[in-house]
Amino acid sequence: MAPLLADANPARARLNALRAEIEAHNFRYYVLAAPTLSDAEFDQLMRELQQIEAQHPEWITPDSPSQRVGSPTYTTSFAPVTHAKPMLSLDNAFSEAEWDAFTARVQERLGLASLPEFAAEPKFDGLAINLSYREGVLVQAATRGDGQTGEDVTSNVRTIAAIPETLPGAWPSFFEVRGEVVLSHAAFAALNAACEAAGEKKFVNPRNAAAGSLRQKDPRITAKRQLQFFAYGLGAWEGAREGMAQPASQLELLDWLQAQGFLVSPHRQGCANRDAVLAYYHAMHARRASLEYDIDGVVFKVNARAAQEALGFVARAPRWAIAYKFPAEEAVSQVQAVDFQVGRTGALTPVARITPVFVGGVTVANITLHNIDEIIRKDIHVGDFVSVRRAGDVIPEIVAVLPERRPPDARAITLPSTCPVCGSAVLRVEGEAIARCSGGLYCPAQRRWAILHFASRKAMNIDGLGEKWIELLLEHGLIAHVDDLFSLSVPQLLTLPRMGEKSAQNLVDAIEAGKHTTLPRFLYALGIREVGEVTANALANHFGTLEALFAASREELQTVPDVGPIVAQHVHAFLRQPHNRAVIDNLLKAGVYWENPTPHAADLPLSGRVYVLTGTLSGLTREEAAARLHALGAKTSNSVSAKTTAVIAGEAAGSKRTKAEALGVPVLDEAALQHLLTPTPTPPPQGGRG
Ligand code: IVH
Repeated sequence: MAPLLADANPARARLNALRAEIEAHNFRYYVLAAPTLSDAEFDQLMRELQQIEAQHPEWITPDSPSQRVGSPTYTTSFAPVTHAKPMLSLDNAFSEAEWDAFTARVQERLGLASLPEFAAEPKFDGLAINLSYREGVLVQAATRGDGQTGEDVTSNVRTIAAIPETLPGAWPSFFEVRGEVVLSHAAFAALNAACEAAGEKKFVNPRNAAAGSLRQKDPRITAKRQLQFFAYGLGAWEGAREGMAQPASQLELLDWLQAQGFLVSPHRQGCANRDAVLAYYHAMHARRASLEYDIDGVVFKVNARAAQEALGFVARAPRWAIAYKFPAEEAVSQVQAVDFQVGRTGALTPVARITPVFVGGVTVANITLHNIDEIIRKDIHVGDFVSVRRAGDVIPEIVAVLPERRPPDARAITLPSTCPVCGSAVLRVEGEAIARCSGGLYCPAQRRWAILHFASRKAMNIDGLGEKWIELLLEHGLIAHVDDLFSLSVPQLLTLPRMGEKSAQNLVDAIEAGKHTTLPRFLYALGIREVGEVTANALANHFGTLEALFAASREELQTVPDVGPIVAQHVHAFLRQPHNRAVIDNLLKAGVYWENPTPHAADLPLSGRVYVLTGTLSGLTREEAAARLHALGAKTSNSVSAKTTAVIAGEAAGSKRTKAEALGVPVLDEAALQHLLTPTPTPPPQGGRG
């Protein structure tokens, strides 16, 4: 390890700092299986270290993280295993230019005028394992560790179904198979669901889950994890019987491993030239999201073993292979702010503004957080460093906060109490995840939708006033709120581009016709949350007038059929907003009116009375008579009891009349019925024209 003393030379000081930092991250990654940096961030640190070392080769020490693979061996409960042959890492390429630089080096060393053939495979994002076979029998399994010494995980590895215990074919007396232990997305999801159910911490990704699973003390736990193993290489190869040569190329090796019972990538392929290499890279990138397991790039290996041997190795990686990485799907960024956006239904959606970060091939600066519960669940603060994920075309998300990087001045995020767009109160109904602006018609964010709803057929029924008109009127500033519709004039509309006299007149006429409405329609048109047609009707029937509705308490609202606490809360809050009241006042002043306001049920002339109809009526059917009685507030019943107000008996009335007489219930004839149904004077209409 490089000395951690302060160094007067800034480059040297930076080198020391980088080494220490990389060490610490290696420990977190390999031992704790809990990394706090994204792979891209880690690669960046490593590159910076390599650059300093390239400028100062004299500073390179064998223990520099740039010269080693993985992490040094830390004390663990697993027995150390010295690898028969070191387990190396791979150099990375992140661009075509880096790929070209790699092949230029290969060609130069091999003295070739053109590219050699490459074997291409996915780069599995898992955990490298070495399997030792003696006389065709699995004798040991070890992790990579620092490349020289790994950990003995034989008992755990034996539980992996895809790893053969004994091999069928011909083999050298001792040899090693190398490959990657991975966890499928399905197994990962199932594991995390089980962790969650048990109240345990979840794994951040399948690779960490695979690593954690292999390092279990109890192999029975590993066995449950459904780990998978892909073989991609050889370690030692000793004591081959006569005529048993090591496969002559990487592709032949993979076929041989498959014949021995190992799983090898079905996506392996030979690439004869640069175009084929790039095509493979892009094809695998496109396939990435649909694979069952994570891959983070593709590995290209010079196919011929003779050429591999000629190229040899540098400290930590072969010269004959390179990992061409995909753009990272996860990156770390910092939350600068959280804004709340107001949607067309008033829903407040928190949006995190993050320091722009390149992830999944695009620059991401804004991430929706869906609702306040998500913020609480993920414990996101302003100032937090967060891991950001964008996989394929999926919208970017904040996966998790990095708690150890939380700055001391990080701020908790709270739901605003007023709408950031219009200042109306924000309502969050108990049990609902979504908070909403109660501004309704008034809120500019909700306006377009609110006006459309207001004009719609079941609301104010303004014929022809659809999305296009509303868009145009808003865009040209002719309207801002629904009440502005009623002051629109033909000359005003004619100022709009390409507007004809006829269309303008038609709209003005339709708006004029829309003024004549009913109280239920008017209430529905206001666009109060949870107030559909049925509820609007029920409210109108119960309260009869707007004034009565305005005066109603939440408790009173709840006495209306079908109105529960949630609806009551929405109606109450809406009507308490002064600007909503102003819009309503303006509508009435502009001439919106309704006749025969639905009276308060209790004020109807026949409220509280119960009639029984029997026999044949001459002027109207029994059903018509019942409907007219209902309209006047009466109830009808089929059976006579002491509660019956009167029995209305037509021709040939039978037992009901007899029963009425027995109970002392009055019996009325058709003339008396007509008298009951005689209209009472109409109460004055409501609204601006009243
Ligand atoms: S070959 C000497 N092939 O990537 C060459 N490695 O970042 C050894 N990996 O340590 C590696 N998929 O754990 C090879 N198809 C593949 C691979 C692969 C994943 C891992 C392996 C290696 C690491 C380097």
